[in-house]
Amino acid sequence: MSQRDWVAQAIRKIEADFNRSADTHLIPLGLPGFPGIDVYLKDESSHPTGSLKHRLARSLFLYALANGWLHAGSTVVEASSGSTAVSEAYFARLLGLPFVAVMPSSTSPEKIAAIEFHGGRCHLVPSACGIAEASVRLARETGGHFMDQFTYAERATDWRANNNIAESIFKQMAHEAHPVPRWIVCSAGTGGTSATIGRYARYRGYDTRVLCADPEHSAFFAHYARCIVGEATGDPAPAPPSRIEGIGRPRAEASFIPGCVDAMLKVPDALSLAAMRWTNTRLGRRVGGSTGTNVIGVLHAAHAMRAAGRSGSIVSILCDGGERYAHSYYAHDWYAAQGFDMDAAGTLVRAVAEQAAALPPLPTAGEAAN
Ligand SMILES: Cc1ncc(COP(=O)(O)O)c(C=O)c1O
Repeated sequence: MSQRDWVAQAIRKIEADFNRSADTHLIPLGLPGFPGIDVYLKDESSHPTGSLKHRLARSLFLYALANGWLHAGSTVVEASSGSTAVSEAYFARLLGLPFVAVMPSSTSPEKIAAIEFHGGRCHLVPSACGIAEASVRLARETGGHFMDQFTYAERATDWRANNNIAESIFKQMAHEAHPVPRWIVCSAGTGGTSATIGRYARYRGYDTRVLCADPEHSAFFAHYARCIVGEATGDPAPAPPSRIEGIGRPRAEASFIPGCVDAMLKVPDALSLAAMRWTNTRLGRRVGGSTGTNVIGVLHAAHAMRAAGRSGSIVSILCDGGERYAHSYYAHDWYAAQGFDMDAAGTLVRAVAEQAAALPPLPTAGEAAN
C-alpha cells in the first residue's frame, strides 16, 4: 500500500470511529443559592476514553495525518499529564501505530494503567518541566513523531464548527430558558478548549464570555495578567507541579491563547477539591479535580451575575470521572499528606453553592465576571 493510501485509510478509520460515537450530554447542575441562574455541565467523561481529551486526540491525529507527519509504522510520542495520552493510545491502536506517553512520575497509576490497557507504553520523567524535551528525544531515537499537544491543540481543532465542543454546547442549549450562556467556564491544560470556545463565540457573534479558572500551581494566570492586563508581574518563575491533574502548567504553553479568554480566576486547590466533592453529591457520581476547579469558576460567575442583578445561564465542563483518582482525590490519606483543611473548604463551598454565601476574594484578571 502506498503512503498516500495508508493515510487515506487511516483518516477513514478515524472518521468511522467518530460516526459510531454519540455526542456528550449537557447536564443541568442546580445551584440552589442562585435562582434565575441556570448552570449546566458538559459531560466529557462519557467519551470512549473518558475525558475531554478524546476530542483533542482525534483532532491531533487527523491534523498529523493531513500534514503528512504520520506513516505506516510511525511511533507516536506525546508529552502529557495523562488524559491526552489515554485518548491518543486509543487512536494509535486504531491505526496500528506504536504509542509512547512521556509523563511526570507523579501521574496517577490509574492513567498509566489506562494507557497500557490501550496498548501504549509509558515513559516517566521526574518533573512536568522535562516532558517536552524527553518527547523530542524519544521521537528522534525511534524515528517517530512527537504530537506536541501543548503547541498544536489550539490549531488542530476546527474552531469554526465540525462538532467541536463549543458548537455542541450552543446546539444543546437551544431549547433552554437562557440559550446563550453568559459565561462558559473552563480551565487550561493545553489551553485548546478555551481557545476553541472563545473563537467560536466570537465567530458566531454570541454574547458569551470565557472564564478560565487556573489552579494554584500554574503559570497561566500570571502570563494572562501580563499579556491582557499589562500587569508587571515579571517573568513568572516556573510553577511547581499542579495538584489538579490535567490542568495548570509550570510554564505558559504555546497553545494557550490569552486573547480567546475574557477573564481568569486563580483557584486554591483545596477549594477545587471541595467543589469536586460537592459536585459529586449533586450528580450522584464521582468527577475529577479539574471539574471542581471549573465549578469554583461557575460559583464566582454566578455571584457576580447575581450582584449585577442578572439572570441567565452558565455552562462549564465535566472534564473526566473520579475513577482515575482513586489513589489521590478519593483517598483519605492523600488530603492529610497535602495539608488541606477539607472540612473548612467543604463547608464553605456548600454555603456558597446552596445559600449564596460569599466566596473569599480570589485573584482575577480581565473582564469583570457579571
Ligand atoms: C482532566 C483535564 N481537565 C481539563 C483539561 C484542560 O483542557 P485543555 O488541554 O483543552 O486546556 C485537561 C487537559 O489535559 C485535563 O486532562
